[in-house]
Amino acid sequence: MLTNKRRPKTKSQRPEAQNEGGNDSIPFASDNSIEPSRIVDLFTQEFKHILESPDLPDFIQEVKGQLYNREYISAFNSDDKRFAYASRWTPARALSYSSLFGSLSPIVELLEESESEKKVLCVGGGAASELIGLAAVFCRLKESCSTSESSLSMDVVDIADWSKIVNSLTNYMKRTWIYKPEKLSANFINSDILTDDYNKYSDLDLITLLFTTNELFAEKKTDTIKFLQKLNHNCKSGSLLLIAESAGSYSHITIGTKKFPVQFMIDMILLGKQGEDNGPWELVEQSDSCWYRIDEKEIEYPMKLENMRFFYRLYQKK
Ligand SMILES: C[S@@+](CC[C@H](N)C(=O)[O-])C[C@H]1O[C@@H](n2cnc3c(N)ncnc32)[C@H](O)[C@@H]1O
Repeated sequence: MLTNKRRPKTKSQRPEAQNEGGNDSIPFASDNSIEPSRIVDLFTQEFKHILESPDLPDFIQEVKGQLYNREYISAFNSDDKRFAYASRWTPARALSYSSLFGSLSPIVELLEESESEKKVLCVGGGAASELIGLAAVFCRLKESCSTSESSLSMDVVDIADWSKIVNSLTNYMKRTWIYKPEKLSANFINSDILTDDYNKYSDLDLITLLFTTNELFAEKKTDTIKFLQKLNHNCKSGSLLLIAESAGSYSHITIGTKKFPVQFMIDMILLGKQGEDNGPWELVEQSDSCWYRIDEKEIEYPMKLENMRFFYRLYQKK
């Protein structure tokens, strides 16, 4: 297991994060983000016809069964299934990520800066949760300085074709959440990150791998290691990398005959040998178990919005 040796060297700067008996928690609503009720409105308005479709429950059941069996590629192989996933699971995840991004000082500082373009890559982000979470923080931080020159440009790479979902949700946010729509953009790239020749790593300020690293390891272990090494070689100094996955045994991977927590493997590649910390990244924020809980009194959505428990690690390139 990970030990305290891996604790970030910098003092934790999570004003909004709390610790409850070994479990961290992030608030239902972050002051640094658009309010949860407005995030949920995005789905009830933009996905109105999907939420009202009599076929929706069947598609949700089909996706749920395939995800349970870890058949990730088949789970997202049609627009009907992707819209079903995005209407059923993306809202709670987008709420959770808006709180997480709004609670992590390095990410808030990045999005708060008022002059330059901020470039983000969301790997496996087609279902748009992290796109909405980041936009919710960016748009809130720009509300008080509508003349700010800074912009947020997100590349979303996913092996399944989520283009319709990314475009529809991004257009809503541009219309509704921001004074200057041209300052917010999302570019969807339908490709396998493990074989893609994406060549903009050196321009990126932030890379997110949210609930995607396990899938990559499950698909191709060696190529996933090579992909993380590509980040080691190509990302610029100061860039951030955020990784999150389910907390607990669901996030174990098998190497040879042994099972490891996936974060053990990731740390080896990014931080170097334990105790030596001679890798190209340093760990700046982390939680091995973090709760995000939905306050059902505050929002209304026609389907269940689940609480989330996950581990996260925010790395910064040295
Ligand atoms: C469990 S979903 C997570 C969705 C989203 N990141 C979130 O946290 O809500 C994993 C995503 O990774 C994508 N994915 C899996 N393998 C991939 C690969 N090799 N390259 C790019 N995307 C991949 C899947 O299509 C899916 O959209």
